[in-house]
Amino acid sequence: MNIRIYKEEEIAQMRKACQLARNVLLFIEPHIKDGASTESLDDLCAHFIAEHGATSATLGYRGFPKSTCISVNNVVCHGIPGSYKLKNGDIVNLDVTVILDGWFGDTSKTFIVGSTTKLAERLVKVAEDALYEGIKSVKPGGYFGDIGKAIQKFVDKHGFSIVRDYCGHGIGQLFHDEPVILHYASGDQGEQILPGMFFTIEPMINAGSFKTKVQKDGWTATTVDKSLSAQFEHTIAVTDNSTEILTL
Ligand code: MF3
Ligand code: CO
Ligand code: CO
Repeated sequence: MNIRIYKEEEIAQMRKACQLARNVLLFIEPHIKDGASTESLDDLCAHFIAEHGATSATLGYRGFPKSTCISVNNVVCHGIPGSYKLKNGDIVNLDVTVILDGWFGDTSKTFIVGSTTKLAERLVKVAEDALYEGIKSVKPGGYFGDIGKAIQKFVDKHGFSIVRDYCGHGIGQLFHDEPVILHYASGDQGEQILPGMFFTIEPMINAGSFKTKVQKDGWTATTVDKSLSAQFEHTIAVTDNSTEILTL
């Protein structure tokens, strides 16, 4: 494997792209409410991204038709924004990747529309905490396998499952670069984590089985058992003696 090591100066550019991606999520939050169609949210994000001199990395990516992925309830990831209108109690992940001056910033968050069930609330909280457990496990000199181990230990305690079909990834001047980052314990320690590496951690956590399937549109991944799924994602940088969450 050949994991790119970026120069120290390059982190500043990555920071800008990642902060813009984060700002998309801050901008869209108040619009996520009962009655809003997912395509209306996508349109708002598309305008915001353009106004800030960036482009969406997902629009046209392998034929993906929209500027964001919006994944509601039992949709695990890669939901295509459309005419579906959010309703009270839905949990909805909005995943945005921007390209700013050639640098990619990738982040996502699961929002709750109005108020929801205790189960859904707990799932969303566990998914967010799982991301931070993964991030905490990252140490320069450590191994990529530490991330999945940490997330698995945490999620198992809560009785939820971790999606295996989609992973985190290297990022920087490419969208999906090496390495593949597993969010579950695979028994493989993986490559060493070194300063100058940029990658995402983005665990998808299901209330039921970890199994997923892709719908006929070729993108929308759902849970096989129709259980709820939640996800949070950050892009992080490894520095000489620590890590920086670029999309915080
Ligand atoms: N942003 C997603 C990720 O976290 C990838 C979306 S690719 C798309 O890696 F084509 F579905 F948009
Ligand atoms: Co990603
Ligand atoms: Co993403």
